[in-house]
Amino acid sequence: MDNRPIGVFDSGLGGLTAVRELMHLLPREDIIYFGDTARVPYGGRSPETILKFARQDMNFLCSFDLKAVVIACGTVSTTSLAALRQEYHLPIIGVAEPTAVQAARSTQNGKIGLIATKASIASGAYERMIHCENKSAQVFGKACPLFVPLVENGRFHVGDPVIEIVAEEYLQSMKEAQVDTLVLGCTHYPLLSDVIGKIMGPDVALISSGREAAVALKNLLIERNALSDSNHGDTSYFVSDTVDGFEQTAGLFLRSDLKGMVQQINIEKY
Ligand code: DGL
Repeated sequence: MDNRPIGVFDSGLGGLTAVRELMHLLPREDIIYFGDTARVPYGGRSPETILKFARQDMNFLCSFDLKAVVIACGTVSTTSLAALRQEYHLPIIGVAEPTAVQAARSTQNGKIGLIATKASIASGAYERMIHCENKSAQVFGKACPLFVPLVENGRFHVGDPVIEIVAEEYLQSMKEAQVDTLVLGCTHYPLLSDVIGKIMGPDVALISSGREAAVALKNLLIERNALSDSNHGDTSYFVSDTVDGFEQTAGLFLRSDLKGMVQQINIEKY
């Protein structure tokens, strides 16, 4: 039994897709969420800058006594996970690995599409992890840099012409390649599941990174006998920019009123 909280971070609000899965799978756990909203997006930056930001995010979260951290950011998971695991002495789950394994197992025709940020695609990490599980799978990668700013601005609903035009263009190559499995390799993208599902059609399996990371964390806590035994878990939210926009969009997404529940911190101090 371990009632200490779980730390979760992302560059912005995309990591809430993982929080939503964690709340569902592990409802007794306390969660401390940090979204680096002042510096989002990370996905177009260099690996050195992403690692520097990720260390500051970890330093802030580790100012709490945590039992584990979920890196709810595909970009940090694909570029910085190994370095962070060496530097911090607590279990760290990245979103990329469990997602890649799930995609490798799900494909029937061996054609897997991968959409993610520029940094994640350039890292080659998803391909490597998919090939560890399924040597013969073909992976079709595509960076989708406009998705994150659109999601951060609440433009993720079916019927919004801007997101639909952008998604059509990004996903054209996936349709041409006839993938039967599509990895949503950035934690912002599950917010676009309806838009993406409408374009790709019902026969393409969408693999969401948040969900697979939540399952991996649950397994880890069970293995270590570290589940919480409290009646009900609480979630605290911290961001690095003003709270207003985050409260509104995150509240809509989590379907709960976050007014007054989000605190701003100065991430440069960490
Ligand atoms: N949600 C993030 C990811 O999974 C980050 C997007 C970004 O900051 O570019 O990659």
